Amino acid sequence: MLSRQLGTKLLAYDTPFYLYDTALLRQTLESVVYESQRYDYKVHYAIKANYDKRLLSIIREYGLGIDCASGNELRTAIEAGFDPKGIVYAGVGKRDKELRYAIECGILAINCESIEELEVVDALAAEAGRKVDVALRINPDIDPKTNHCIDTGQADSKFGISYEEVLENADRIKGLGNLNITGLHLHIGSQIRELHVFENMCNKVNVIVRNLDSLGFGIRFVDVGGGLGINYDMPENEPIPNFASLFSIVHNHLDVGGREVHFEFGRSIVGQCGELITKVLFNKTTATGRRLLIVDASMTELIRPALYGAYHNIENITSEEEATKKYTVVGTACESTDVFDENVGLRISARGDLLTVKSAGAYGMSMASRYNLHDLPGAVYGDEIAK
Ligand code: LLP
Repeated sequence: MLSRQLGTKLLAYDTPFYLYDTALLRQTLESVVYESQRYDYKVHYAIKANYDKRLLSIIREYGLGIDCASGNELRTAIEAGFDPKGIVYAGVGKRDKELRYAIECGILAINCESIEELEVVDALAAEAGRKVDVALRINPDIDPKTNHCIDTGQADSKFGISYEEVLENADRIKGLGNLNITGLHLHIGSQIRELHVFENMCNKVNVIVRNLDSLGFGIRFVDVGGGLGINYDMPENEPIPNFASLFSIVHNHLDVGGREVHFEFGRSIVGQCGELITKVLFNKTTATGRRLLIVDASMTELIRPALYGAYHNIENITSEEEATKKYTVVGTACESTDVFDENVGLRISARGDLLTVKSAGAYGMSMASRYNLHDLPGAVYGDEIAK
């Protein structure tokens, strides 16, 4: 972890802040590019994971496309220099002005998530005098074996159009004259660590593609979404996710002829490259004996523990004590759920020490809020600090 190497050097910065290991980001990108090229797979970066401008400019250097989920994400990607022809746009509820903007930009595909959305895009395309490329986001009904808060491809989920509905409405969809239905899209969930889930996904996709073919859809590409999980428990053991295994599973099980295969990775690209650095403010013990370590970050900088009960490994990076104690690490927000973790073994921690909350590069800064009028956290980049 970069913060371990930097240690007390980080005391020079105003906390809390995100520390980004740009060298690790580059290695991760090299890995995903190298492994994907073996099969000619196309990789998009899911910008919702982190839209930091410096990180985006590095990601762009490696030729990835973008997956976005709002008009503002689309605009941010375009301003960062990404080619609209490599951008896909999903989301259950796109506003008319967002759809108009996407149509105007001429992106690779608007991934439509309901029949009604397809009809609205068709009407907006007519209004713009264009034919618009869209992908059908289908809900494949797969259990991704992950935290229920972040699964997205089960039958009762709000995401995607049910497969049955697509089959029943095939003629209606094909009759929308201002649309080119060029792609099939699905995304089954996030932080998937049981890779055999992707095998089930491929088997479903094979059936869907065969049926869409027989119904006369001219699908050119299949976008299987993101979801590859990272190692939150021991990030040091697995700083770069195992893209090779996922690609090899997909290569062995997906049977979609010569169609392009696309992925949309968020967490696996940036997750391990970011740490939240926070300073210890106070120690105190509750009447029940719970030893609290109060730090200057909170759920407003990193909401994942409070929102999903997500685990992030925490370490004291400046303490010179050998002995450890168990602490409950809590933040400054006026919320009882503002707890980073319970019973964490840390080197004895005192006011002014720095802690790192690891694996926070994805869905950390991008989900930060200004609750309690906290300032948004700053960012420090590894390549700007002399080691
Ligand atoms: N594609 C689509 C359509 C998505 O909705 C997502 C994430 C991705 C790709 C990227 O998934 P990834 O590779 O990052 O798993 N805030 C939650 C995660 C929400 C994921 C939302 N969609 C968290 O902090 O765990």
